[in-house]
Amino acid sequence: MLNIAIELHDKTNCFRVPTVGDRSVAVLDLCMAPGAFLRRALKSMPGSLATAVTLPIAQGGHEILLSASLLERIQVHELDLNFLAADMGLIDQEIPDDHPDKAKFLPLLLNEGCVFDLTICDGSVQRPHRQIIADYRQDLEPSRLLLMQLVLAMEHLEPGGTIVFRPHQIDQWETVKPLHQFSNFGKVMAHKPTSSYQVKSSFYVVVTEVDSTHAEALKSVALWKSTWRAATLICELEATAHSAEIDLDSERVLNEFGARLIELGEQVWRVQAEVLGNANWLKKEAAK
Ligand SMILES: C[S@@+](CC[C@H](N)C(=O)[O-])C[C@H]1O[C@@H](n2cnc3c(N)ncnc32)[C@H](O)[C@@H]1O
Repeated sequence: MLNIAIELHDKTNCFRVPTVGDRSVAVLDLCMAPGAFLRRALKSMPGSLATAVTLPIAQGGHEILLSASLLERIQVHELDLNFLAADMGLIDQEIPDDHPDKAKFLPLLLNEGCVFDLTICDGSVQRPHRQIIADYRQDLEPSRLLLMQLVLAMEHLEPGGTIVFRPHQIDQWETVKPLHQFSNFGKVMAHKPTSSYQVKSSFYVVVTEVDSTHAEALKSVALWKSTWRAATLICELEATAHSAEIDLDSERVLNEFGARLIELGEQVWRVQAEVLGNANWLKKEAAK
């Protein structure tokens, strides 16, 4: 992870964010462990302070691999991010008594007014965690995790701040949407690390100068919240139908954003194509 953090910072400067005045830079890392990204951010911004969420090891989370001196600058919350219902505006009375996680949802983590200059959203669902989560979470968990991170990031971002997140497959609709949405209220960069994960479709998005108060930003956050709530409260089939109902107009998105999407995708596709082109297992498949 450290190689990825170094490369990502070299290419995008994402872990050094500008601030006004001489206050400490505040960083939020929503899926922190083992902690390479946060380490890179805290080291490149002396005096910066962080709030971090990490999945408890007993629930399949990773060990935190940070020095004691860095940990002194971080307030760590050990919890499952997708239990932060109150942060998503979901109140206890709205959760049915027979909901499998009724007793597990958590009170508000981030109060109004709690803001950050940089938010890192590098969560990905890991197998040990998937094995213990309730059935309703199985299929939609990756999308719920991303939505939760994006909502928290946006609702607690200092205007002009930076968000880093990791979607999959740049040309799939579920990825095109947030890229297009962010391009309405921030400067979007995409980078696929060459040091790791090349064969996978995931890549990093860095959005700088995010105007979190922009009307399109507020609209996007409302949409993400509504999609997360549906995936949390109703069955997968109904949640998918709900998402389709409130979905963006794909033709409009492609007209407005198609050319930029191709620009953003160039490096991402190139890195993945090169590694797939040299993969022995793929050559063997093709020879069959
Ligand atoms: C690729 S790792 C993040 C690596 C990290 N950015 C670093 O620099 O070391 C993905 C992280 O997402 C976390 N994660 C997955 N689901 C989560 C959840 N529901 N709540 C909190 N963390 C979660 C995993 O435990 C893991 O720490």
